[in-house]
Amino acid sequence: MDTILKTENIRKTYESSSVKVNALNGIDLEFAKGRFYSVIGRSGSGKSTLLYILSGLDQPTEGKVCFEGKDLSEYSDGEMAIFRRRHMGFVFQQYNLMEEYNVLENICMPVKLDQRKPDPEFLHTVLETLGLEDKQKKYASELSGGEQQRVAIARSILSKPKIIFADEPTGNLDKKTALETLELLIESAKKFGQTLIMVTHDLEVARMSEVVITIEDGRVIG
Ligand SMILES: Nc1ncnc2c1ncn2[C@@H]1O[C@H](COP(=O)(O)OP(=O)(O)OP(=O)(O)O)[C@@H](O)[C@H]1O
Ligand SMILES: [Mg+2]
Repeated sequence: MDTILKTENIRKTYESSSVKVNALNGIDLEFAKGRFYSVIGRSGSGKSTLLYILSGLDQPTEGKVCFEGKDLSEYSDGEMAIFRRRHMGFVFQQYNLMEEYNVLENICMPVKLDQRKPDPEFLHTVLETLGLEDKQKKYASELSGGEQQRVAIARSILSKPKIIFADEPTGNLDKKTALETLELLIESAKKFGQTLIMVTHDLEVARMSEVVITIEDGRVIG
């Protein structure tokens, strides 16, 4: 297997003043390049926590995450930020679009922040694939939820990340739009050889993935 991401005995404990929550209790996973993984499990089972740790947005209490063989904990915060911008894409339930920028500017933001220029041909392909060509000059407030979601997906793809992390990316959309959006995301990931790791509550969505990871009480049970 051509491994891109691997975890070794990940544990995560959240500690507040009085209580300790063991959100992850020893997670060993290996993700292959270019495949589509879904992560399912009940509310509070640890799915989002796992995604945050896999993507280096949060650190595990114990264990390690290796990206292409390198331990993520060896990066400084600054290096990690650059690393994420360059290699990882994110689609979360809140689209996190910037209100003061139009669609095109939002989509190009991660690439620009990385001091790169968007490849015009690739940009065209992404806009076309996601049906956003005629929406480029619009602002987030002028878009429907499904359109905003597609902008967030376009943004995550344009920087050509090696991995896309998505946490319930279609959770706020109606069934038809959710399915269309999802198909676009999968199609784009396939086209550009990206690994897709997606948290979902929807078993129908999970069935579209190549590998289903089931989490219960912070453990992988299937
Ligand atoms: N910042 C935090 N501080 C303390 N406890 C937290 C924090 N974030 C999550 N938890 C706890 O960790 C556990 C796992 O939470 P997590 O958000 O990973 O669940 P989830 O599977 O994503 O749930 P959902 O499907 O509802 O999004 C829960 O018991 C939650 O209450
Ligand atoms: Mg969650």
